[in-house]
Amino acid sequence: MTNFSITAENLTYHYGDLVAVDHIDFKVEEGEIFGFLGPNGAGKSTSIKMLTGQLRPKEGKATLLGIDVAQRPNRVHQSIGVAFETSNLYEQMTAEENLRFFARLFGVKVDVKALINRVGLENRGSERVEGFSKGMKQRLMVARALVNRPRILFLDEPTDGLDPVSSESIRNLIQETRAGGTTVFLTTHDMFEADKLSDRVAFIDRGKIVAMDKPAILKQQYGKRLIKVEVAGHNGHSEMREVRLDSQETGIALKQIMETEKVITVHSEEATLEDIFIKITGRGLA
Ligand SMILES: Nc1ncnc2c1ncn2[C@@H]1O[C@H](COP(=O)(O)OP(=O)(O)OP(=O)(O)O)[C@@H](O)[C@H]1O
Ligand SMILES: [Mg+2]
Repeated sequence: MTNFSITAENLTYHYGDLVAVDHIDFKVEEGEIFGFLGPNGAGKSTSIKMLTGQLRPKEGKATLLGIDVAQRPNRVHQSIGVAFETSNLYEQMTAEENLRFFARLFGVKVDVKALINRVGLENRGSERVEGFSKGMKQRLMVARALVNRPRILFLDEPTDGLDPVSSESIRNLIQETRAGGTTVFLTTHDMFEADKLSDRVAFIDRGKIVAMDKPAILKQQYGKRLIKVEVAGHNGHSEMREVRLDSQETGIALKQIMETEKVITVHSEEATLEDIFIKITGRGLA
């Protein structure tokens, strides 16, 4: 039997008349990294808030490790770590003080220095958070979420607004955390991130899940794979020829180009998750 870390069944939320999350269903297996991908306002944060017990669903239910979140919020909080868009760090405290404070809240013992090192904040632990850069705060927020050694880690836009190097280090941290057996649920509007990190992604648009699968399978299913051949054209300019990979004519078309033109470069191209999102929803992720 599969053990599901997270289940959402008919999960629904509305703010007044605005339906933010519209009857969504999914299951996340233990140890999976599950990416929730959608544009601004799609309902990602509202979903993650219901999953973590910060908002009570208007309909449907969420379970974590088999426990109903709305019914037993305190019980599930022991087993999860949460890092949200808005900082919940104490700016006046040092990084280490923040972590110690949360460890006390959870009633757990934690090697604060080791955790600080793990998120790449070596030697910065005794500095006040108010002097930290955005990337440093994000790392500390992830560290904070790891204090109680959670079985499920929830991250809302963990790399939003970070430079590529900081983003990459957060992604590495997420992968390391999963390697330790933790299930990770993350939201993002960054298709590159969703693709790179997630075992499975769900596309969310206007409160509904419109596709859900492994990134590679979504690409196979919706994507058009191409071979792009750059050939010498007239007057020294190069021209592009495109050949579809998944067609009966592929071989013939390629052979013809190879035999009749002067080929400069050849490369293959596959659809990105963004292309697929646009194909399904008619709009982009930005
Ligand atoms: N507190 C609130 N009161 C009223 N409407 C809200 C509230 N929070 C969110 N909404 C609305 O609910 C919808 C979903 O918002 P949500 O924050 O879940 O989206 P999101 O996918 O997290 O977007 P983003 O990428 O911008 O973080 C939006 O239309 C938003 O305007
Ligand atoms: Mg959000």
